[in-house]
Amino acid sequence: MTRMTRTVFLLALLLAAPCWAEAPGQAAIASAHRLATAAGFEVLEAGGNAFDAAVAVSAALAVVEPASSGLGGGGFWLLHRAADGFQTMVDGRETSPAAVRADMFLDAEGALDRDKSLNGPLAAGIPGQPAGLVHIAARYGRLPLAESLAPAMRLAREGFEVDEKYRRLMGFRRDVLRRYPQAAAIFLADGEVPEVGHRIVQPDLAGVLERLAAEGFDGFYRGELAKKLVEGVREAGGHWALDDLAGYRVAEREPIRATYRGYTLVTAPPPSSGGLALATMLHILDRYPWERLDRVARTHLMVETMRRAYRDRSVYLGDPDFVKVPVGMLTSPDYAAGLAAGIRLDRATPSELLPGIEVLAVGEDTTHFSLMDAEGNLVAGTLSVNLPYGSGFVVPGTGFLLNNEMDDFAIVAGVPNAYGLIGEDANAIRPGKRMLSSMTPTFVFGADRVAVLGTPGGSRIITMVLTGILDFVAGNDPQSWVSRPRLHHQYLPDVISAEPGALEEVEAQALRERGHTVNVGEREWGNMQAVMWDRRGGRVLAASDPRWGESSGVAEVR
Ligand code: DON
Repeated sequence: MTRMTRTVFLLALLLAAPCWAEAPGQAAIASAHRLATAAGFEVLEAGGNAFDAAVAVSAALAVVEPASSGLGGGGFWLLHRAADGFQTMVDGRETSPAAVRADMFLDAEGALDRDKSLNGPLAAGIPGQPAGLVHIAARYGRLPLAESLAPAMRLAREGFEVDEKYRRLMGFRRDVLRRYPQAAAIFLADGEVPEVGHRIVQPDLAGVLERLAAEGFDGFYRGELAKKLVEGVREAGGHWALDDLAGYRVAEREPIRATYRGYTLVTAPPPSSGGLALATMLHILDRYPWERLDRVARTHLMVETMRRAYRDRSVYLGDPDFVKVPVGMLTSPDYAAGLAAGIRLDRATPSELLPGIEVLAVGEDTTHFSLMDAEGNLVAGTLSVNLPYGSGFVVPGTGFLLNNEMDDFAIVAGVPNAYGLIGEDANAIRPGKRMLSSMTPTFVFGADRVAVLGTPGGSRIITMVLTGILDFVAGNDPQSWVSRPRLHHQYLPDVISAEPGALEEVEAQALRERGHTVNVGEREWGNMQAVMWDRRGGRVLAASDPRWGESSGVAEVR
């Protein structure tokens, strides 16, 4: 062994997740919909492992939560295999169709036309979720794909009932779905937002799931369905080609790992920005005596770390298959020390003083589930169609909404996307490239506790996961991580957003005195789903974000 390989080997050992000898003996699933949680348990009880259950939960969510994810979208699945500690992220992120160019999204004056990047088939990347499900089942599952997809097929055929969340999210998108009769026929009732209790039955979608179960990748990405998709998209003004579909590939990516106070973080690598941003933020925070700081100082420090991590996101991050992302630098504690050196504890650093990108010129949905089987295999999955109900467009006869993830590219450098995020070359549109994401499925391993967590929320995903991690490290249970009021800063706009209850007025005032702009009590955001195994206490816990009232997700331990 050379010295280099020995160092790498030792580092790998140091960072490797613990392979605990015992198993939790119980399974836990937290997802955004009761029927998806039930689908996961159904597959576990039929002899499936966590990876089969992840396929079942993802597919069920695609049926019963069409606002948030679906076969027309994509996502990331972070996996941990208990038997050998193997970890990977299955990257089923959408890709840009080869023929799509940034100038197709501009209006006559050359400005970004948000209608084009968000609504209809031009907004849609090539879906990755179907390929992701096939890949996970084949490589990591124990059951045939058809068995893991069975609950979803049944839900598509028998239908599910509209709830308040469906209605609320459809309120934002009804007018777009009305443009596309196929979408309106499935997801609206006579052109209106359906009432609570209305049944959504999806026979076309059931057919696509059956085809996927029978033929695997080819059932979706080649042949009859692929032809239908390409023709339907082109007729409605998009630019998909058969090669875009046939050439789609799932990628397996090495997770980002970082340590924070003795805990090992295992999280989403590029094309997600989440893991690198978390690594930078935790490395900065690790340099301060957190317990000794008061609430205002903690908030100030968190905001300053968020500001710096989101600045780096806008400059450096994009699809690693296309741009060289400086992973080594961004995960280095020394780099974080440099950033920390620029933080003043008594003053906010105006974002415009950080070298970065100049801003030239801003719904909610996506879904997350966390699960663990009785053997201790873990999955954190964050899946998306981007805005609620994606692009609002359904190709006739296919039954699923296409995503509008093209808006996650920095279509015009420095012009914010729907989440106010900016970027430049690293995240520019290129044929076959994956658009940068904020989705951050995450595990945190401590000496005897492990956390599985994640959430939707666009640009705010990363700061929500950060808050969840800090709460876990502080010793609290998942119910606390998912409920605790949230704060957010994303470099630009240079504003602290605070949920109701996140800051007392005196605290907000103290932050303003340090130079921050603070928006208190804005609104609530996120839908975190979390699982924890406390090995020493022999406890398995799961929790769903309570923010959606009666249509909140369901977390269960069995
Ligand atoms: O990949 C991303 O970062 C976004 N498309 C996620 C969108 C999202 O979370 C919307 N939900 N609130």
